[in-house]
Amino acid sequence: MKIAMIGTGYVGLVSGVCFSDFGHEVICVDKDPAKIEMLERGEVPIYEPGLDQLMAKNVEAGRLSFTLDLAEAIDGAQAVFIAVGTPTRRGDGHADLTYVMAAAQEIARAADHYMVIVTKSTVPVGTNRQVKQTVRKANPQLEFDVASNPEFLREGAAIEDFMKPDRVVVGVQNDRASEVMAEVYRPLYLREFPIVTTDLESAEMIKYAANAFLATKITFINEIAALCERVGADVKQVSRGMGMDGRIGNKFLHAGPGYGGSCFPKDTKALARIGQDHSIPMHITETVISVNEEVKRRMVNKLLDLCEGNFNGKTIAVLGVTFKPNTDDMRDAPSLTLIPALVGGGAKVRVTDPQGRHEGEALLPGVHWVEDAYKAARGADLLVILTEWNEFRALDLKKLARKMATPRLADLRNIYTVRDVKRAGFLAYESVGRAGFKKTQD
Ligand SMILES: NC(=O)c1ccc[n+]([C@@H]2O[C@H](COP(=O)([O-])OP(=O)(O)OC[C@H]3O[C@@H](n4cnc5c(N)ncnc54)[C@H](O)[C@@H]3O)[C@@H](O)[C@H]2O)c1
Repeated sequence: MKIAMIGTGYVGLVSGVCFSDFGHEVICVDKDPAKIEMLERGEVPIYEPGLDQLMAKNVEAGRLSFTLDLAEAIDGAQAVFIAVGTPTRRGDGHADLTYVMAAAQEIARAADHYMVIVTKSTVPVGTNRQVKQTVRKANPQLEFDVASNPEFLREGAAIEDFMKPDRVVVGVQNDRASEVMAEVYRPLYLREFPIVTTDLESAEMIKYAANAFLATKITFINEIAALCERVGADVKQVSRGMGMDGRIGNKFLHAGPGYGGSCFPKDTKALARIGQDHSIPMHITETVISVNEEVKRRMVNKLLDLCEGNFNGKTIAVLGVTFKPNTDDMRDAPSLTLIPALVGGGAKVRVTDPQGRHEGEALLPGVHWVEDAYKAARGADLLVILTEWNEFRALDLKKLARKMATPRLADLRNIYTVRDVKRAGFLAYESVGRAGFKKTQD
């Protein structure tokens, strides 16, 4: 089967590579010449564990190639995927469909045989029908169908998620499109992974509902964490006790500095807008969005408390800037709120991240990048753990404390315990939703 993948970002590249590994012939297209040049040299433009080897294997096997030329990519393709960005539109929170509609136009202009145009990008309900109208208008002769196939992969575990999904969601309007989609996902059908075949609108809705629900779960535990601090409970124990209930589940119940990333912030905002447009306000999602902002503000206050109410003149070391470990993605990361607050308050900020520097440098002006946690800690007044990279899960706390001017730790991912930190010689410790401690300095 021949597949074209339009948009070779986090989702398009991973999907294209995995489809080629299924045995399909895949051509990935992007508008960005620098990206295509890198890919043609065998380099992966993003950090995603395992992607480089899988890509090399399938390029070598002759099943995977890259191009800037959309017409070349869709020539002979039975399925053409749209996997371009749908960022938040400036000003109103809606998903910006400019890239999706531009891709649909380009497909329509170049297509001359039957194909299924599949939207993999996260798009508001009704978008697939809009894609259909756009293509029909631009190329009335063309025989085609549309399908909605939202993607659920997680950055950092994207290949595993794509190859062993909890489910695949496919929205179609007829059997012909359904058969093409079944062929695309045949290896997963054969291994009996659940495939939800439904209508276009339900498929589009499933993606937003799933992401809004996950964002709600995270935000719920973050709010409970704030109450735990006030009443003397330990949110880690609370999460554990809650998560053992099969109806609740233990995933996405880790208190932290607020959700971020390329999906939850924009998808919750888009769902809230969809609700407003249809006069069914998404009260829960709207509240989640504002509570998440509050959570980030609360983190700034926590750091301020550890700095005796003033960042000015303090040296602060920040470990981790990406929105989660195992990715270089910085989109809407909590670091983009926290670090500017520190810099703006007059702190000297030293930053380290195993993969975040490349993206982070332009986004975080005024910080000093160093190679590792120990270099960051040298002479610092406060150490902040912001992203739970494995490197930061097994730090030599004693060594860190010795290097610092005033050893104080803000562990915003609840990795360490009061006991570990006290023993290592720290003077103060704060985490999220658990008791900390503060020794007075003599
Ligand atoms: N990143 C994730 O973890 C994730 C997970 C699930 C779903 N999604 C959804 O998938 C979609 C893509 O997200 P992403 O993170 O991969 O975005 P991205 O910004 O990493 O990649 C989009 C790519 O599309 C290219 N592009 C834009 N218009 C094009 C055109 N007309 N022709 C060819 N290329 C074009 C851009 O140059 C860019 O490389 C979004 O709707 C997102 O919500 C993302």
